Amino acid sequence: MKYIMGNWKMNMLPDETLKYIEKLDEELKILEKEEKDKELDNIDISLFVPFINIFYAHLMSQETRILIGAQNMHYEEKGAFTGEVSAEMLKSVLVDNVLIGHSERRHVFGESDIDINKKLIKSQEKDLRAIFCIGETLEENETGKTEEVIKRQILEGLKNVDIKNIIIAYEPVWAIGTGKVCDSDIANNIVKITKEIVKENFGLDLPVLYGGSVDSNNAKEILNKEYLDGVLVGGASLTVDKFLPIIKSAMSGE
Ligand code: PGA
Repeated sequence: MKYIMGNWKMNMLPDETLKYIEKLDEELKILEKEEKDKELDNIDISLFVPFINIFYAHLMSQETRILIGAQNMHYEEKGAFTGEVSAEMLKSVLVDNVLIGHSERRHVFGESDIDINKKLIKSQEKDLRAIFCIGETLEENETGKTEEVIKRQILEGLKNVDIKNIIIAYEPVWAIGTGKVCDSDIANNIVKITKEIVKENFGLDLPVLYGGSVDSNNAKEILNKEYLDGVLVGGASLTVDKFLPIIKSAMSGE
């Protein structure tokens, strides 16, 4: 299975969401007519949309190949947490996919490894599939701390988590939204190390994606790397014209 996941961040209004999903579905149906349906069956296409768009996205994505997810959730069940959304609330609107620990949550909103750990615990309790994001900053990268940082994020993030359904996304912070994509061999190596750390400490083989300035020009090379199970795409997931070629990159002969 290859995972092609789009993180819309704080972009797209409901009417744009409706048009996007309708268009993407039409394009996927064209691929099916070209007898690419078996290949599409092996691609998980997920869109992480703003909370406000979840309802509209679900409406349009029923009976399509497109899965809908949220970009964040709170770890408490309910209560006085103004502005937050719980796991149960996501489930109630049929969301079963959630991003946790995205670098913008960590660095813009100050989420710690402890917060992220609590969210991961709750996501698994509530049977959500969590896309757990990890990655080093530019400074950490330049001072040779990448492995140390990702190891800490994995060990702290997954501590006491009853892992049922987790995908890891390796997203170097310096590559996100900057146009500076991580060299595919280096990304492949970090993904390999990530898998080893998870296996050694938690006894599991989890899928690991790469994210950070992925676009139609570099997706094929990244997706062809041995250890990579897919990509998490920000900017290039905002239009079907840019996202579709990335989906196609996961198909043979494209
Ligand atoms: P980008 O974002 O593709 O725009 O770099 C990736 C992400 O934040 O998940």
